[in-house]
This record gives sequence, structure tokens and C-alpha cells, in this order.
Amino acid sequence: MSHSRRSSRIPGFHRKPPRERLQIVADFAGLDAETAARLADTGGLGLDLADHLIENVVGSMNVPLGIATNMKVDGEDVLIPMATEESSVVAAVCNAARQCYDAGGFTTSLSGTLMIAQIQTVGVADPYAARLRILERRDDVKAVCDGCDPVLLKFGGGFRDLEVRVLDTLSGPMVITHLIVDTRDAMGANAVNTMAETLAPHIAQWTGGRVYLRILSNLADRRLARARAVWPLEAIGGEEVRDGIIGAYHLAAADPYRAATHNKGIMNGISAVVLATGNDTRAVEAGAHAYAARAGHYGSLTRFERTADGHLSGTIEIPMAVGLIGGATKLHPTAQASLKILGVTSAERLARIIAAVGLAQNFSALKALATTGIQKGHMALHAQNIALVAGAVGDEVDRVARILVERGTVRQDVAQAVLEELRRGG
Ligand code: MEV
Repeated sequence: MSHSRRSSRIPGFHRKPPRERLQIVADFAGLDAETAARLADTGGLGLDLADHLIENVVGSMNVPLGIATNMKVDGEDVLIPMATEESSVVAAVCNAARQCYDAGGFTTSLSGTLMIAQIQTVGVADPYAARLRILERRDDVKAVCDGCDPVLLKFGGGFRDLEVRVLDTLSGPMVITHLIVDTRDAMGANAVNTMAETLAPHIAQWTGGRVYLRILSNLADRRLARARAVWPLEAIGGEEVRDGIIGAYHLAAADPYRAATHNKGIMNGISAVVLATGNDTRAVEAGAHAYAARAGHYGSLTRFERTADGHLSGTIEIPMAVGLIGGATKLHPTAQASLKILGVTSAERLARIIAAVGLAQNFSALKALATTGIQKGHMALHAQNIALVAGAVGDEVDRVARILVERGTVRQDVAQAVLEELRRGG
């Protein structure tokens, strides 16, 4: 089919109902009826609700939701809903948690539920004096900020602090004002962005400069979630395993090439819970990576050490801007179910559990990498993926996957050959 006259200029697309939009897309891309019907099947989300969450909705992208077992966080057992398309992520958390369960599981804390908003002011003649003029107005700043969100105040949140920096930039000095706001059970982006926008004209007046950006910082380093756990030597398989894990951490601490992968593994766990609860995965990821680079070089978000008794101690510290009352969290039925499964009633508890999941994920990855390698554990599920891609259905999937693993060649061409053999009765 020739697509030479296809146009992406579709006037009024955003005003059409989702099914009409889907028809337009189907015509544009030559989707068959079955493919279009699958897109329109939004499962538990509901097409109407999806249509209210983002623009130009035509369907949904469904991701599996798995439950990690064995987690004990601050003395309480908890089941962890994880939304991810990646095999082995859920199993990794289950395994790590099992190996420290008897030793008490995870102990966690949170530095606070403070978010930061930034206001950028340029063209200030006397930036250092302007900085002080802003700081002198602390009471006015507090009044403006708190006036923006009476509901937040009612729940014990609101303006907490003011910081002003003079930054030397490529386009000269800038006066950067930080509003530090306790956003309690909200992730807080809306609350602090409104405050920054409302305060901006005042800042312009006090400084004599011009305000441009007014937006939260995703480097939420006043909202640090911390978790620690001890893995007893006998639970992990001895000193060599312990030292292998510590050595793996040392490599991540020394080398950004390794640290990126090390932290990616941590985020495998963290983003899966953030997504399952309808929170903003990109906000948490941005904060995590910026925090990992705070020392001026990119390093590890976790640390592993030997305890006085020779066991393995693991710790994590990571910005965790998650909430319970944001749009997707409140509206998405799966997010609500996930919160219920977790049994959390505060953003603080959610953030602390998520940190524990990140540490668990990292422990499992490092243990596998320092011992048998990552592929062995991956292969069983990966083989099922490959069998599916090769066209296996029903119980063929398991049978093909098992044969692939036994033969040690988990490849699609081999899967196809095995499938043909099976179907021929081989
Ligand atoms: C794969 O998604 C994650 C790992 O690469 C993490 C790591 O290397 O630590 C296994």
C-alpha cells in the first residue's frame, strides 16, 4: 500500500472520541481490525478514564503486574505489586527478601516529604544584594506560598524554607530561588509549581530582574528514602559470595560505566513499584541518577559492607518523590489496588517500602553477577518469551522453553525448529 498521501496533520484529532481517533490511526497505518480491537481493549483502565489521563488516547499499553513475596519492612510483612515488562525483576526481589527475612528484613527511614521548586531570575544588576532582599522577605514568601494551597496546609504541609543562590552561568549571573515545601502525601509537583508561579512576580519586583523558569526540581534530596538490611553469611552461601557482592559494589562506586548498569538494576525494582502505584517513574528516575552524581562523579546508589560479625550489610539512599493523591494514583484502578495490596496509608511508608525494593533488587543482581552470572536465572523466562515469539501457544510454550534451556540455546531459530518438531510429533 502506498503511503504517499498520508498526512500527520489531522485537524481536530484531539476533539474526537477515542474510537474515532483509533479509526483514523488504523486507516493511516493500515492496521487490521484485530490489531485495532486489541488497542482499544484497555483492560482494567477503561477507555473513558484513559481518555481523561492524557491527550489523543486511542488505547492502552498493558504491562504485567507481578507480586513480590517475602518482603518484611520495618517488622511488617508486605506484598509488593510490581508493574514491569522485564523478566526476572519480580523473582529477584522475592529471592533477596527471602535471604534476609529471618534476619529481620529491611529497616527504613525517610528524611522528610520536602520538595523543592526553583525560580530563575536573570538580568539582575546586583545579584548578591538581590539574594539578600529575597531572603529578607521570608515571611512574605511563606504567606504567598501557603496561600496557594489551603488543603495542603490543612494536612500539615506547606512552606518550610527558602534558599537563594547566585549561579554563574553561560549567560551571566542568575539568581535562583528555592522554595522548600512539605507536600506530605502528595508527590507535590502541582503544589510547588503553583507556588513558584504565584511568587514569581514578587521575586521579579524584589530583584529588579526578569523571571523565566518556575518549576520543581526532580533532585528531591530533601525526600531521601533509606533502607538497610543484613544478609547472614549462611543465607547467601558464604564468604566468597559476600565478598563478590562487596567487590561488585566497589566497582560501581569507582566506575560510571558499571554504576549506570548497577543503578539501572536498582531502578528495575523501584520503577516497577512506582508505576504500579500510578506514580511518576521519570521523576523518580531523574532524581535517582542526579543524586547518584551529587559527588561530582556518577556512582552507586547502594553500598555493601561486611558487618562486625562477618555478615553482608546493604544500604540504599535515594530521592523518592512519590505520593498517594496524584491524578493517576487516585484514578487508575490498578494503582488503587496496588496501594491496597501494599497496605500503605502514607506517602512516607510507600517511599520507604520502595527504597527497600531497590536494595533487594540490587542485592539479587549483584549476587547473580558475582556467582553464576545473570543469564542462568534469566533463561527460563526468556526462553518462554522466545517460544511465544516463535509462535508457540498453550502448553507448547513451556515445552519449547524447557527444551531450549536444556539444549542451552535460547534462540528464536532454534525455538522455531523445536516447535516444528513438536508439532510433527517429535
Ligand atoms: C538488568 O536489567 C539489570 C542488571 O544489569 C543489573 C546489574 O547489572 O546490576 C542485571
